[in-house]
Amino acid sequence: MSWINSLMARSFGRKPKAPSNPQSNLVFAAPPAVKRDAGKKAQSNLFPRFQSMAGDQPASRQNDASAAMRVKLRSAFTPSQPITDSRMFAGRIDVLTTLIRSIEDQRVHVIMYGERGIGKTSLVHVLTQAAQEARYIVVYCSCGAGSTFDEIFRAVAADIPLLFHKGFAPTDNEAERGGTLADLLPASPLTPRLVADLFAKLTGTRVLVVLDEFDVCESPDFRRNIAELIKNLSDRSIRTQLVIAGVAADLTELVEHIPSIRRNIFAMQVPKMTASEVNSLVENGEDVSGVTFDKAATDFIVFVANGSPYFASLLSHHAGLAAIDAGRSNVTVDDVSQAVDQALTEFRSRISKHSQLQIDQAAKSGVRHVLGVMAGAALFNNGRFDSRDVDALYPSIANAANLKATIEDFASKHVLLEILDDEYGRGYRFSEEAVLPYLWILAAQKRFLEARKPVASEPARVSEKVAEKPVEKSAPPAGGARAAGRS
Ligand SMILES: Nc1ncnc2c1ncn2[C@@H]1O[C@H](COP(=O)(O)OP(=O)(O)O)[C@@H](O)[C@H]1O
Ligand SMILES: [Mg+2]
Repeated sequence: MSWINSLMARSFGRKPKAPSNPQSNLVFAAPPAVKRDAGKKAQSNLFPRFQSMAGDQPASRQNDASAAMRVKLRSAFTPSQPITDSRMFAGRIDVLTTLIRSIEDQRVHVIMYGERGIGKTSLVHVLTQAAQEARYIVVYCSCGAGSTFDEIFRAVAADIPLLFHKGFAPTDNEAERGGTLADLLPASPLTPRLVADLFAKLTGTRVLVVLDEFDVCESPDFRRNIAELIKNLSDRSIRTQLVIAGVAADLTELVEHIPSIRRNIFAMQVPKMTASEVNSLVENGEDVSGVTFDKAATDFIVFVANGSPYFASLLSHHAGLAAIDAGRSNVTVDDVSQAVDQALTEFRSRISKHSQLQIDQAAKSGVRHVLGVMAGAALFNNGRFDSRDVDALYPSIANAANLKATIEDFASKHVLLEILDDEYGRGYRFSEEAVLPYLWILAAQKRFLEARKPVASEPARVSEKVAEKPVEKSAPPAGGARAAGRS
């Protein structure tokens, strides 16, 4: 019987005839039971499974040390979630102190702005805990695209017990039954004046209303109402303050609505983390997970992260898992390199095909290094950069004039960049947000690894060679005009 016939016989459920040649008997004979079980077992071992249970214990079949370490590592580095446990919160002592002082001493409303992943939500969580320790009522709202003033402040009111309303004694029935300010709201849409009137009745406590992801809300009405509310609350010294986290554009827009509220607002750009803060982020993760990072591996993370806690957390997470997969509890430079590759794949998938093509073409035509310079310049200047920034950041770069001409050429042909003619003159910005982190990480990985290669008989001196990276610039002053206007 030909193999086709035998196959057909099987697929129609007929038992194939025994072959005349006894040697080929094996082809049709059912494999011995034990072997089939082993095959099934092998297959089921290959089948992807979750490695830990929903309760965070390692799955029973892999109850070993590395499985436990994997579980711990996942809670040590949480790149897709903000920090909520203050023990995992690295650095930012000055930032936090400044925020607390402005809320407590100056009684102003706070706006925190900065790029995605810089740590705004994590800061808000830690600030919330500090305020709650001081018995503030803190209501956290994450704004959505369709958030409305009415919806948000009804939710806020529902979190404030009637107990703190001047008109209710703690022994009043409503207060005792756990009533909230929301019980006092009319059915008609809420206005800033109405909300301020209600908050004016608060006594014996202070309220912080945190509006996170403020940039996500698209409604201009919402922003105007928030500006009105800030004015109302400030004019009447009401015991409620707003903490708004978002991007810089929101700050200028809010103030545009009512310029007089400028003096009631403390605006702060959340700065990049310093190298030592990123170091302590990695150290915190080491303590929690039991995974250790070789010195060079941490240096690599610090270099590529370039002050972004998101990058640092993502790379530490991937690198830690790579080490555990390799049966080690220490993370090496190679693990970090693997983590960077993984991050690059993730980031690349967030870029449009059109931009991917432009990047590949630029790399092929020998100007790959220009992409890295553009990314560095943009990253160090909140997205907007010009030829002066290139000079300032790369003072010793060869062929600077050619390089700047290439950047101008890119922008004028709308390749990856767009031209900005603003108050600072002619500048550039990446047309697509996701391109910047991708190009930066690509260039940083290359630079770090090249700097590690030993040159002739000289041992690798990474710290010196890495100095080819952009000259470190200090973070712009909080609320600095240039930064505020630019992002
Ligand atoms: N101070 C910090 N210490 C440790 N990790 C941090 C810190 N700030 C942020 N992260 C990490 O960085 C990532 C981005 O933080 P997040 O607060 O969500 O940023 P943003 O709100 O600005 O987008 C998260 O993975 C978070 O765990
Ligand atoms: Mg956030």
